[in-house]
Amino acid sequence: MLTLARPASHSPPLSRSQTTFLAQQRLFYQNKQLELYAAREANRLTLRQLLFFGRSTSDAERLIKSANYVRTELPIRIAHRLRDMQKLPFIVVAQGEVAKVYELYWSAFEKFRRYPPITTTDENDAFCGFLTDILREHWAVIPNLSLGLSLASPHLSADVLDSFMRRMLISRISRRVLAEHHIALSRMHSGKTSTYPEPHVGIIFTALDVKRSLEKCANLLRNQGKGWPEIVVDGHVTTRFAYIKEHLEYILFELLKNAMQATALHHRGAPGLPPIRATVSSGANDVGVRISDQGGGLATVKTPSDLFSFSHLRNAARLDDSHIDALRSVSSSPLGMRATVDEQVGRWKQDLIDPDPEVQAGVGHTKIGIGLPMSNIFATYFGGSLELVTMNGWGTDVYLRLPKLGTNLETLEGSEL
Ligand code: COI
Repeated sequence: MLTLARPASHSPPLSRSQTTFLAQQRLFYQNKQLELYAAREANRLTLRQLLFFGRSTSDAERLIKSANYVRTELPIRIAHRLRDMQKLPFIVVAQGEVAKVYELYWSAFEKFRRYPPITTTDENDAFCGFLTDILREHWAVIPNLSLGLSLASPHLSADVLDSFMRRMLISRISRRVLAEHHIALSRMHSGKTSTYPEPHVGIIFTALDVKRSLEKCANLLRNQGKGWPEIVVDGHVTTRFAYIKEHLEYILFELLKNAMQATALHHRGAPGLPPIRATVSSGANDVGVRISDQGGGLATVKTPSDLFSFSHLRNAARLDDSHIDALRSVSSSPLGMRATVDEQVGRWKQDLIDPDPEVQAGVGHTKIGIGLPMSNIFATYFGGSLELVTMNGWGTDVYLRLPKLGTNLETLEGSEL
């Protein structure tokens, strides 16, 4: 990260102390820049504002405004997280995987900070290419961070670790939403057709059909797991609302997977399996989904902070060899993941992203055991919630609530995005 200018060939080589001095100066300058950006507040958006950027895709001026918003907003949000990382104990941030993420963020911060203003649609095309490359480079951030912090877990209190992870992950989701939405809007602007039958603006589906998403996730899962239970969808089954389909389906896939696995295990050997019931509700302000299974429930009642924790103090499995090994294999050879992600990134270039929940949740997160905490983080990003009620010996009900009006700001309670 720290590259020093090469001395001209006629200059004498720099002494060690000169090199150190220059390195220190550069570091000082970089940190000064970081402070400037970290001192600024994030300009948080609502789902409605994101829609507004894309309402008239023929309006080049609005698209360029969106590009410059992304260009200037992302380095502020990255600077907040770099500051957060600098506050961790040195032993944690020096841990190989955490250090990798720190360097990636420094590099992205520098690239965004130096990126010139975008004034034409051609420049915007180049900017979208730049964003696509950064999205791809950052693909392994979640397994890297999870591994790094699992290994560093003994050096941090559970509260510090969990609130740090929460800030890192919500902020990352927010940055990826801004970048992906802008790329998708740019594609729409340039008139590239979409294969989607559903109405959408950028990455926001304006009439997202909850029952259809539930059935899609259930079918994907039932095709994977032999003898998994059926789902029955009831309640307000015609509910449609404006939301990011990728987020809704990530959560539904993860919750249904847990419910199906528990049911199949609890009733193994039985002639039939009780179905999973998914009840949809459409209230004045929120859309709700309750997923009820008869999978035997959890043996010990865990609080939400335990269930969604990344710390071994709240969830001992975080330091299990199998968990660490899975994290290591995903982090150190992300080739399998990359292939899938390249496919996705390729799709953004060709068409609007179809975030296949199997790709989102199945690749990586489920395997590395962070599907549930990630679902909670996705649910809370625009102010929704995820709650779990378990009856030991019988089953579990999970309640997902997502805001329906699109008027909630991106949320990271008590902290800057
Ligand atoms: C991430 O994926 O971690 C990011 O921060 C992506 C963003 C810089 C576009």
